[in-house]
This record gives sequence, structure tokens and C-alpha cells, in this order.
Amino acid sequence: MHTDHINHTFLDPVLAGNEVDTYYHFGVASDDPLLEELRRVRAIILGGSGERARAFAEEWSRRNGGAPIVDFPKEDRFVTRYTAGVLFASHGMGMASASIALQELMRMVFFLKRGDLAEMARVAWMRVGTSGGVGLPPGTVVVSTEGLMADLKPYRLLQGGHGEYWFDGTFPRDMVEDLMAAAEAAGVPAMPGKTVAANDFFLEQFRLDGAISMETPDSKMAWLRWLDENGVRNIEMEGAMVAGYLNYWGFPRFGMICVTIVNRLVGDQVTFTPEELHGFTEREGELLFTFLRRELNR
Ligand code: URA
Repeated sequence: MHTDHINHTFLDPVLAGNEVDTYYHFGVASDDPLLEELRRVRAIILGGSGERARAFAEEWSRRNGGAPIVDFPKEDRFVTRYTAGVLFASHGMGMASASIALQELMRMVFFLKRGDLAEMARVAWMRVGTSGGVGLPPGTVVVSTEGLMADLKPYRLLQGGHGEYWFDGTFPRDMVEDLMAAAEAAGVPAMPGKTVAANDFFLEQFRLDGAISMETPDSKMAWLRWLDENGVRNIEMEGAMVAGYLNYWGFPRFGMICVTIVNRLVGDQVTFTPEELHGFTEREGELLFTFLRRELNR
């Protein structure tokens, strides 16, 4: 862990009990008795949809002898459940929304682990999502090796008028290997590769089916081919930020698995029925639970 990258000025008085930290978007604060039940958290699973956070928590509870599920009270932004050592939280769509969830959860982990860096390093983080595949058949799970923005550069944010904050979007190599091994054990088709996180579903993903379209079939295919040639296997909307922030604090265990729901070399529209999409995400769930079982026994 990089203790010099942790905001001790704000967080240490919370640990000392002199200040209360309000995790506003989750509807809890550091003096809330509910958080005491989460002290033993070993993994945090993030995904876009609240419904998936609920379903994953129920299934993980079922696989752990019906372990009790702790519900967070506020659900208008993010849905959050804790059961059997794992916190499941939704983060909404896009890096702006997901960055709020992630920063508040990083603060929460610091508090839950009482600022103990070794204990924090034992917490694994994983984003589980959907994506557009680059040349992959729908239903393939991509295990991300690196998260980049649409220009194939790492995640950046504006630093006022001075320039930009840059982040390292690399996912830890041993997590990639462990996730690939879990995929094999679960019988889930998976492939490692780079992932582009776009700021928009349409324009930054070079779709031609948005209300606003500024590309041509040729320029779209040129961008997709450029991604393909540079080892990008899928496109989603959060990974570069997730990897960037977790690297910044130096968490050693974090990864991302995203099932592909469209092959962007073939088309733009996602046309699968809810039942077909459910089948894809079930597969991803098998990979996730296989990984979690191994991770919590490490
Ligand atoms: N999510 C995305 O961001 N893009 C896709 O094409 C599919 C899912």
C-alpha cells in the first residue's frame, strides 16, 4: 500500500474518533453500528446494476449456508449488501458515477480496517460488468490486463487549468492469472486483454446509432481496428478509473471481468433478449463465485 497516497489529513481524525466520516451516497457514516458488521470484509464486488448487487449477494449467501445479509438503508444511488465476508455494491454507469462509489468505499475500507495497511492489502476488489467485445463472440468474459481511455492513454482527470491528474490503469498480473484459472475451473470462456473505458456509450465508443453521430462507417472501423491491433479486447465505461484509483492507494488485489454482449466489429446495437443476457451474466457469476471461494481461503 502507498501510505503517502492516502488522505491521512482527512481520514486519521476519523480513526481517532474525533471526526465522523459520512459516506453520503451509501447512506451510512463511520459512527453507524451497521458498519461494525463489516469489519471482516475480504472482498468488494462492484457492478453497474443494483439488481445484480442484490442477486449476487443472495447467491453468495446461499453458497455460504444462508449467511445473514446486511442491507444498506439508502438505495437511490447505489445498492449495497454485505454477506459472508463480501461487500456487493452497484456503482451506476460511467466513470463519474463509479468514481464516487469507489472513493467512498476506499474511505470505508480504511475505516473498517482501522488504517492497518496489511489488513487493507488483504481486501480484494473486483468489477464485474458487461462490455462490447472487439472481435470476440458475445458471451466471452474478458479479464482485463489494463484499463485505458478511448485514446489508448491511461485515465486522466482535469486539474483545473493547470493540466491533468494521470493514473496507472494496470491490473495486477497475479489477479489476471488467478481470474483466468478461476474461469477455467468454472468452465467459462475467458480471454485476457486490454479494456477501453469510454466516457460515453455512443460517441466515445464510435457508435453510429446514437442520437448524435459524428463518425462514418469507415472511421468507426478504423478506430476499432486500431484498438484490436493494440491488444484491446473489449470496451466498457469504468475500468480505467477503477484500476487507476486502486493502484494509487497501492491495493495489490484487484481485477475486472466483463462479459461481452455485442461484437463491435459486427454491429453497434445490443439486441439480446433479457433471458439471453441473463445467461451471459450467470456465466460471469460462476467465474466470480469460483474466484471468491479461492480468494477467501487464501
Ligand atoms: N457496455 C459498454 O460500455 N459498451 C458496450 O458496447 C456494451 C456494454
